[in-house]
Amino acid sequence: MLTNHLTFGLASIAAILAPFASAELSGTVGPLTTATEKAAVKTCNVLDYGAVADNSTDVGQPIIDAFADCGSGGLIYVPEGNYSLQTWVSLSDGNAWALQIDGVLWRGASPAGQSYMLEISGGSDFELFSSNSAGAIQASGYLYHINDTYIGPRVLHIDGVSDWSVHDFVLVDSPMFHFVIEGDSSNGEVYNMAIRGGDSGGLDGIDVSAINVWIHDVMVTNKDECVITKIGSKNILIESIYCNISGGCAMGSLGSGANVFMFKSNGGSGEVKNVVLENFIGPDNAYSLDLDSFWSSMSAVDGDGNADIAAQVGGYIQYVCENAYGSGYCVSNSTDTTATYTTTLYASPSPSGYSAPTMAADLTAGFDVTLSIPIPTIPTSFYPGATPYSALAGSS
Ligand SMILES: *[C@@H]1O[C@H](CO)[C@@H](O)[C@H](O)[C@H]1NC(C)=O
Ligand SMILES: *[C@@H]1O[C@H](CO)[C@@H](O)[C@H](O)[C@H]1NC(C)=O
Ligand SMILES: *[C@@H]1O[C@H](CO)[C@@H](O)[C@H](O)[C@H]1NC(C)=O
Ligand SMILES: *[C@@H]1O[C@H](CO)[C@@H](O)[C@H](O)[C@H]1NC(C)=O
Ligand SMILES: *[C@@H]1O[C@H](CO)[C@@H](O)[C@H](O)[C@H]1NC(C)=O
Repeated sequence: MLTNHLTFGLASIAAILAPFASAELSGTVGPLTTATEKAAVKTCNVLDYGAVADNSTDVGQPIIDAFADCGSGGLIYVPEGNYSLQTWVSLSDGNAWALQIDGVLWRGASPAGQSYMLEISGGSDFELFSSNSAGAIQASGYLYHINDTYIGPRVLHIDGVSDWSVHDFVLVDSPMFHFVIEGDSSNGEVYNMAIRGGDSGGLDGIDVSAINVWIHDVMVTNKDECVITKIGSKNILIESIYCNISGGCAMGSLGSGANVFMFKSNGGSGEVKNVVLENFIGPDNAYSLDLDSFWSSMSAVDGDGNADIAAQVGGYIQYVCENAYGSGYCVSNSTDTTATYTTTLYASPSPSGYSAPTMAADLTAGFDVTLSIPIPTIPTSFYPGATPYSALAGSS
């Protein structure tokens, strides 16, 4: 699935009082100072803190120790090489700092009781990146999945950080979700990333519950959400997302499946407002746009969170509306919003001669959850014919 322009004004219930929330960014995103400026203030090379690129010595504690010196202004540098990540890293309240990981961090342990392998919480003006576009965390989640265990660490957490970016970085084979952005994190930018997980549900790509965030030029291979916005998100702009076998992008929360885009709820208290969805291509997707306010595989939760959708869809072939209530194209005007229904309408056919474009790397099968997943190269295009907004860091 490919989407090259998808904007959200996804409002929490509290934001109903702010009717002017727009489906665009609300201000600038990204760090306030460049990595070069930070490096000039101070550079902390993890090799000086005990790290060894031997894929055996723990790199976690050296990163934590480097943060003590560079987390209040500076750049922490992990040079190219293979490292073993055994102590999981949680770095709080940094300011004007960057973490440049040009090497590959291999999960080398399974410490109990920690949720994230790399967690950045609080603070401001932060950048996580690799200068060679080849930095990665290889989480080897298959070692959990061969035990049929899908409870384990997630890879990356941005929690309550303002003015930040994550780019030119690869996340592979998380035991659970790959990248979670939450805690009112604001003014963020995520781009030039590849995320690759096993072919199973529960291995989400990017889960966003944040404010004023631009996510673009990202490739996700998995079998659950590609990029999903959850309650509390406002002013989220998502574009040029290449979901390479995936549950597609979503608002809400869903099980595995093959959709290009889905709104999903069953009760609940959220509200979705001011949404623009454009240019989805999904040659082999089960549904192109799925609006479901009675997601019946999930028990209803308290609240009347049913869709009031004024859908205006043009385009081609077949529209199926299921369990969507309100007024508009093929939605039901029934007042019984707990009833299930399906309406299938056939609209105007595809323009003559049209066939959905594909990408060279389109896959035909996902990655076996019981085998090690190879670390991908970050693609140079995430939508047919589209050039990423920012050149890959490693291309120069
Ligand atoms: C890391 O390991 C891989 C696989 O063995 C190897 O191809 C690569 O050269 C190593 N990286 C470095 C910088 O040594
Ligand atoms: C690094 O070590 C892990 C085991 O902790 C191993 O599975 C992996 O293949 C190693 N990577 C390289 C590049 O040697
Ligand atoms: C998977 O199970 C084996 C055998 O019980 C165990 O040794 C291993 O630690 C488990 N893997 C993980 C990641 O928990
Ligand atoms: C609901 O829609 C049907 C068919 O479009 C229409 O005949 C009916 O009057 C509508 N009912 C209400 C309550 O708007
Ligand atoms: C898409 O996934 C397939 C494997 O399932 C992989 O071969 C291909 O490289 C992926 N595409 C990209 C751009 O990484």
